Amino acid sequence: MTETLDIKITKTLKSRLAETDFDNLVFGRTFTDHMLVADYSDGEWKNFEILPYGEISVSPGISSLHYGQSFFEGIKAYKHADGKVSIFRPDKNAQRFNKSAERLCMPPMPEDIFLQSLLAVVDIDRNWIPTAPGHSLYIRPFMFATDQYLGVAPSLSYKYMVLLCPVGPYFTKALRTKIETHYTRSAAGGMGYAKSSGNYGGSMYPAKKAAEEGFDQLIWTDAKEHKYIEEMGAANAMFVLDGKLVTPLTQDTILDGVTRDTVITLAHDWGFPVEERNVSVDELIAGAKSGKLTDAFGAGTAATIAPVGSISYQGEEYTLIDPSQREFSQKVLKTLDAIRYGQGPDVHGWNCFVE
Ligand code: PLP
Ligand code: COI
Repeated sequence: MTETLDIKITKTLKSRLAETDFDNLVFGRTFTDHMLVADYSDGEWKNFEILPYGEISVSPGISSLHYGQSFFEGIKAYKHADGKVSIFRPDKNAQRFNKSAERLCMPPMPEDIFLQSLLAVVDIDRNWIPTAPGHSLYIRPFMFATDQYLGVAPSLSYKYMVLLCPVGPYFTKALRTKIETHYTRSAAGGMGYAKSSGNYGGSMYPAKKAAEEGFDQLIWTDAKEHKYIEEMGAANAMFVLDGKLVTPLTQDTILDGVTRDTVITLAHDWGFPVEERNVSVDELIAGAKSGKLTDAFGAGTAATIAPVGSISYQGEEYTLIDPSQREFSQKVLKTLDAIRYGQGPDVHGWNCFVE
């Protein structure tokens, strides 16, 4: 850390904690008592403030509303049995935050300031971190353009904010997925690798159409030929095919997921073969037919390790082996939970403690 970030703190006079139903959390609907806000203008970040969660006032002319100059991150904090609180690999999110910022012509946030901002706001709302299995505190840092200007140009002013949500699992059952061969999420040269808000807005229509057919998630394919797997709507796609962990290479069309990197690192630790390469739809379907596709899951912060129950392609649905029988993803989930909840060794130093 370089220097201590100066944050003005105003605590709420009326906490909503006692009236919050932690047994029925819907992902992203419950917000904690506080949020962090900062402004960028005249070439610098300033006015870091933690204040009661609530509405903010912005001009209707801000360019993020009109041209989508905005992006976000997703991170989780966990409470350990001994009461310690840790944030999982926020340094990786700090790096990706700045990759997204660069792609969208937005100002970078120095990594140590990003980290200090998370630590400060999580510390204040640490009592909101749920401890039930699979539960955590979802941290949502984001940035958006605030110039009042309808010309299409990068804004000169921005807001950075961090919101917190106590959450349970994002997906509650094995996913019924569909390989999308008409719509695209991103194309080469686009901004698929950035966590830009527009990537998500654009994916809602195809996802809605798939949901009407009963699917939980789309598996996106390449924009050019629709022959190669890219990722899912809210997670990276990972498979165990012929005894190897196989996952698409992160090119500029795919989000370089922290969970994906974590799973690959664990596989390397275990001496489990890993292939990061183009993964064709044909080989997946062949694997599903032959039984060589022994595991398939989405890997993401919100999704954690979300088993794919079935894959549909060209009107045919391929049901995979029961998630409880899958060796690799079960082991990953167990190992990850042990690290995150402080019940197992953290050999890579992935937990960043909130002191
Ligand atoms: N891909 C997309 C489109 C996502 O929204 C996410 C979620 O953040 C991921 C992949 C997984 O990334 P991470 O593991 O960093 O959360
Ligand atoms: C995340 O896992 O952090 C995501 O961004 C997924 C989704 C909630 C958009």
